[in-house]
Amino acid sequence: MKRIVVLISGRGSNMEAIVRCCAEQRWPARVVAVIANRPQAAGLEFARAHGIDTAVVDHQAYAAREAFDAALAAAVDAHAPDLLVLAGFMRILGPAFVRRYEGRMLNIHPSLLPAFPGLHTHRRALEAGCKVSGATVHFVTADLDHGPIVLQSVVPVQPDDDEAALAARVLASEHRIYPQAVQWFVRGVLRVEHGVVRQSEGAPQLLSTL
Ligand code: GRF
Repeated sequence: MKRIVVLISGRGSNMEAIVRCCAEQRWPARVVAVIANRPQAAGLEFARAHGIDTAVVDHQAYAAREAFDAALAAAVDAHAPDLLVLAGFMRILGPAFVRRYEGRMLNIHPSLLPAFPGLHTHRRALEAGCKVSGATVHFVTADLDHGPIVLQSVVPVQPDDDEAALAARVLASEHRIYPQAVQWFVRGVLRVEHGVVRQSEGAPQLLSTL
């Protein structure tokens, strides 16, 4: 049984999708804890209601990033995870934290990386006149929103889209690819070769909704 710890900052809908798929598809894994950096993170409620341990490491209580990272690592390590899943976790993690979980930490970003790392991805995609957008699940490296790509989704950008409409379409695809990527990890079918992730069963690492 692989142990999964999920880090959230807010709504937690990706975390919810992972928890649901884990149970429904009987993965050889369990979400053992959900940890938030904000006491008000709405996703904590879902976790509690599903009997999952929760913790809050409030970044506002720490003056220095390193001190926050160290407290977060302690909270994570208390649950001895095989995999750390960042799901809408809105804090930048320092190099020591990233090194500690290297190769066993995944993130989802709502763009087709390497396009539009960072914030306001949907607005930037619209401003650039992109005809497609999507989401990317990747291993976390010290380079923000980079790192070996596990799986991407592609969705159309419609001519009348605003930020909210595009975000909703991308989010629906996130709820499909993030559980898939986590399932692959816990089943041990991902290999990273020279910075490129291969699914050893040959499953497509792309979800297209075009
Ligand atoms: C998602 O769009 C994710 O890609 C981004 O923040 C959002 C989090 O949503 N990093 P949720 O908290 O999983 O509902």
